[in-house]
Amino acid sequence: MPIYAPIQSTIEKAAALLAEGDLVAFPTETVYGLGADATNDRAVALVFKAKARPQFNPLIVHVPSVAAAEALAELDDRARRLTQRFWPGPLSIVVKRRTDCPVSHLATAGLETIALRSPDHHVAQALLRALGRPIAAPSANVSGRLSPTTAEHVAKDLGRHVKAILDGGPCRIGLESSVVACLPEGAWLLRPGAISAESIAEVVGPLRPAPAADVARAPGMLQSHYAPALPLRLEAGRANANEALLAFGGQVPNGFATVRNLSPEGNLTEAAAHLFAYLHELDRPEFSAIAVMPIPERDLGIAINDRLRRAAQGTTSTGI
Ligand code: TXA
Ligand code: MG
Repeated sequence: MPIYAPIQSTIEKAAALLAEGDLVAFPTETVYGLGADATNDRAVALVFKAKARPQFNPLIVHVPSVAAAEALAELDDRARRLTQRFWPGPLSIVVKRRTDCPVSHLATAGLETIALRSPDHHVAQALLRALGRPIAAPSANVSGRLSPTTAEHVAKDLGRHVKAILDGGPCRIGLESSVVACLPEGAWLLRPGAISAESIAEVVGPLRPAPAADVARAPGMLQSHYAPALPLRLEAGRANANEALLAFGGQVPNGFATVRNLSPEGNLTEAAAHLFAYLHELDRPEFSAIAVMPIPERDLGIAINDRLRRAAQGTTSTGI
């Protein structure tokens, strides 16, 4: 994997790799990001695989401008004021996805909200403009390790997984962005960072206390995971009346009202890429439930099963 000095030609090369669905690490003012085309489910699945994340935490989606953010999400007055005051910069805002938002549902972990940030770094900005699409990018480290603030950190941790690293030298801030949710229910600081709670409150008014995990799961509040309206029946074998099936692998049972197959070849990266999009597609009132075939508990299957179990908890499934 080459480490490039960031000049116009290497930035364009990196953008071309992203456009093809490959992963590229790039510098921001906070930490190095592990970037993927945010509109490409499969590329986003590769991010989770590379990081070996046990869960599909929603990723921050990077945009070059406020105008680009408005194309993806609904910004209310407070959110707009935050972007005017702090963008480009180390502040991510969690806002409601637009219904026509082209970002992968895996990037937002199936939620109706999306975290957006416009980085204050000329390389990150040039890459975003060269690609012309939003970039999903968590910190470029293996899950549980330190966030990378140099290209060498990235190479050591994730060299095998990225097609290129743009070397912008050490990051100016060295700590991930502040994350603030700005939703109709109010504004919360979800992750402290370089921009303080006080300076955020100056713009949006008093922040609500960070929601407890169970509050965050309540409908209409900050959902920490996706829960379909239909019951979810895990480890399903035979069909019940009028059930939709989320299948996996080549041996699909008959008798279901409809079937979406996460990966006919049994490929877990492909399955992860399709997971949330297919759950959304099957979550329709004409079906009685979504039955889910067993998914192997290895590699990305661990994260897939984690999300399926959480999604099933929010439903009335008896889980046979
Ligand atoms: O500084 C940064 O923000 C770095 C650089 C690369 O820009 N990126 C970064 O991304 O730290 P990431 O994907 O690791 O941050 C994800 C965090 C989640 O753990 C969660 O706290 C929050 O952002 N988040 C993302 N989407 C969310 C959503 N829809 N609702 C609530 N929180 C969300
Ligand atoms: Mg991180």
